[in-house]
Amino acid sequence: MKPRKLTAGVHWVGAIDWDRRLFDELIPLPDGTSYNAYLVKGSVKTALIDTVDPTMASVLIYNLERLDVKNIDYIIANHAEQDHSGTLPQMLKLYPDAVVVATPKCKNLLMELLLIPENRIMTVEDGETLSLGNKSLEFIHAPWVHWPETMLTYLSEDKILFSCDLFGSHFATSDLYVTDEATVYEAAKRYYAEIMMPFKKVIQKNLEKIKDLQVDVIAPSHGPIYGKPEFILEAYKDWVYAQPKNIVVLPYISMHGSTKKMVEYFVDALIGRGITVKQFNLAKTDIGKLAMALVDAATIVIGSPTVLVGPHPNVIYAVYLANALRPKLKFASIIGSYGWGGRMVEQITGMLSNLKVELLEPVVIKGFPKEEDFRALDKLADRILYIHKEHNVVS
Ligand code: FEO
Repeated sequence: MKPRKLTAGVHWVGAIDWDRRLFDELIPLPDGTSYNAYLVKGSVKTALIDTVDPTMASVLIYNLERLDVKNIDYIIANHAEQDHSGTLPQMLKLYPDAVVVATPKCKNLLMELLLIPENRIMTVEDGETLSLGNKSLEFIHAPWVHWPETMLTYLSEDKILFSCDLFGSHFATSDLYVTDEATVYEAAKRYYAEIMMPFKKVIQKNLEKIKDLQVDVIAPSHGPIYGKPEFILEAYKDWVYAQPKNIVVLPYISMHGSTKKMVEYFVDALIGRGITVKQFNLAKTDIGKLAMALVDAATIVIGSPTVLVGPHPNVIYAVYLANALRPKLKFASIIGSYGWGGRMVEQITGMLSNLKVELLEPVVIKGFPKEEDFRALDKLADRILYIHKEHNVVS
């Protein structure tokens, strides 16, 4: 795709990766992604804001050629992760006068990860500005969106906030700006869940930090640009600050049907009590969908058979993920079955240490569920409804 103009002197020069289906060899990308880089040409100096994933270096280089960019003075590295910084070494060869601009922590990471020579990097403090002539860049240190070294760059004359990973979406689209808000909301929420949610406390501080900035446009480094910043700012406020909702997330797996029967019964019991349920069969589910469901849920109930002495390995993966993502969950429980014994409950609860959840009495049974087991599931559903009401989760 060709360079695209945002405003006078500001162009998108990034790359759209329509075909990528996995990020960090971990995160599913059903809609591909983009690596947005931006060229800001002032009356005196020229800055490139971020680069692209090294697999797409040729696209960035071609875009700069098409804009006839002969000289770059500064390359702003908002973030050291390679999907934005990986083309820096090539850029520094192509533009021998260019200096990388980064936070002190980012400088260290760029030297370690990409072997960028120290004399090609200048560091900027929080709030420092850099003049390009008739345009100026302000640097806002914003740790943990997504790594500890991250910063945002604000172009004050045009009121554009270059937010790098923050507010991004893994969404390949030919739209430069958001046009279909519902679709982008879904992609941005998935992205928040998978990448930003573990840092929601520091995101609160970063949102505070930018709340008085006059921002007309948010230009992230993944996904389309926000011409109406309120759309994504309001979404983030909901994801970050709002109380969890009357939702039970139920990731489960079943080997011979006992746990599945319990799940089916239990889901009906919850629905009958007015609780929203999001059920995920871990043998089949897109793990990103599970992460998204965790953004708003008050309760997680994990369904597992017993394999040898512990939970099914797919359950271990899902529990590890939920624990790492640190959603707003308040309550957790476990349902499932065993043949002759095991330590499934202890092993699952031992993996939930990051979550400040209250454990509700698990229902783990021997073999196929019987009448008394269904009554125990009813009791657990009653307990969830009661505790959701008690914590004002039920609206
Ligand atoms: Fe898009 Fe944390 O890199």
